[in-house]
Amino acid sequence: MDSSKKKQCRLVVFPLPFQGHINPMLQLASILHSRGFLISVVHTRYNSPNPSNYPHFSFHPISDALSESPHSAPDPVRIIKLINASCVLPFRRCLEGLVSEGDVKCFISDANWYFTHSVAAALGLPRIVKRTSSVGAFLAFAALSRLRDEGYLSLLDGDSKMEEAVEEVPPLKVKDMPVIEMYNAEDAYNNIAKMVEETKKASAIIFNTFQELEQPEIGRLNQQLESPNFTIPFHKCFSAASSSLLAQDMSSISWLDEQPPKSVLYVSFGSVVAMDGARLLEVAWGLANSGSRFLWAVRPGLVHGSEWLEMLPSGFSEATSGRGIIIKWAPQQEVLSHPSVGGFWTHCGWNSTLESICEGVPMICSPFFGDQFVNARYVSDVWRVGLNLHKALERGGNENAIRKLMVERDGEEMRKKAMLLKEKIDAGLKMGGSTNRALDELIGFISSL
Ligand code: UDX
Repeated sequence: MDSSKKKQCRLVVFPLPFQGHINPMLQLASILHSRGFLISVVHTRYNSPNPSNYPHFSFHPISDALSESPHSAPDPVRIIKLINASCVLPFRRCLEGLVSEGDVKCFISDANWYFTHSVAAALGLPRIVKRTSSVGAFLAFAALSRLRDEGYLSLLDGDSKMEEAVEEVPPLKVKDMPVIEMYNAEDAYNNIAKMVEETKKASAIIFNTFQELEQPEIGRLNQQLESPNFTIPFHKCFSAASSSLLAQDMSSISWLDEQPPKSVLYVSFGSVVAMDGARLLEVAWGLANSGSRFLWAVRPGLVHGSEWLEMLPSGFSEATSGRGIIIKWAPQQEVLSHPSVGGFWTHCGWNSTLESICEGVPMICSPFFGDQFVNARYVSDVWRVGLNLHKALERGGNENAIRKLMVERDGEEMRKKAMLLKEKIDAGLKMGGSTNRALDELIGFISSL
């Protein structure tokens, strides 16, 4: 397609209203805009992105059933179920309006907007799914209903069947599966089943990952799906304007500028995880007793029943004085690419995991729910670029893990492996590299619709 024709084409994108989903969708939209497409962003009023950061996109708010203002520790399962039910009509009207203007080429939906397939189909509009997780995590989610039907997900810790490999994702054992232990587990499994089912119907799937990282998983995905898939590490292809919902504390970068190379452990548990006060204490004492330098992003609302730092143990500031700072929200990508950062203690949300790998930073993994368990297992046992603490957050274990990662030989080995992955991703971005080709193929695919 020549560029004058491409300019006529509009893509409608619809991000799920969570930080970890808004970032990759707007990064992808920015990439496609840079390749000549016009972008319309349909979004809920809840967790609305800031249009002034993207003056070249058009924004179309739709009503949702979430009357409350964004919560600092949201319940994603409840919200996903609710908005999939309540947004059908407003979304359909909005999409009809955009389509009636005549230039919409296709619609790109977050995989968790599972109601959108039938709306797009009724309008005769091709629907491409953007999946936030890794390919491995998607395969794990796709295997969940079988495992659940066969009783595997109700096994108790220690049962020998927990050690069985999951045939759909062989590096994973039953114990690594994203078992959901929430009070609304039934809703969570239903959300996942619908997400998988409706994703499989899409014209194509775009994953935020890169080929060299997940070659076997991509091969398995291709056996399960007829539609094409594209693997693109979005944030490496376009340094988009910030889509952060919280203000990023830039003073952390000047603090990092004064620290020795690779000496700082960056700590963050993402935008959704919430923990109790006891777990916060274990993290705090792990940091204090390890002796390591650290930059800790404590999101307001991270700790149940606490505004911000009220539950930090007394004596913590004195014990860590001069070698650690706490902020509310970090400019994470800048932090991870800073030469002073030598490790990342993370919940293993997929964006965080990928951002860390792309900068060659090894990890300590403390997964909390969902795909985070799968990501943690790949980090520690498949790519070998981190230590997996599983569900445990005990101060002795934390302290040892920090030392191991930051100053011991094991950590050095993981850092070398992470740097090799970084080199692979950088090579993929060059002309003829895997990511560069995937991007060209995606543009060709969209243009052919
Ligand atoms: C959620 C789920 O928790 C995760 O399992 C799933 O894979 C994606 O959706 P979230 O908890 O927000 O994600 O974590 P993550 O996927 O890591 O995304 C967080 C995003 O916020 C990242 O892009 C990160 O760069 C950004 N961030 C995080 C900041 O900008 N500043 C911070 O202080 C922390």
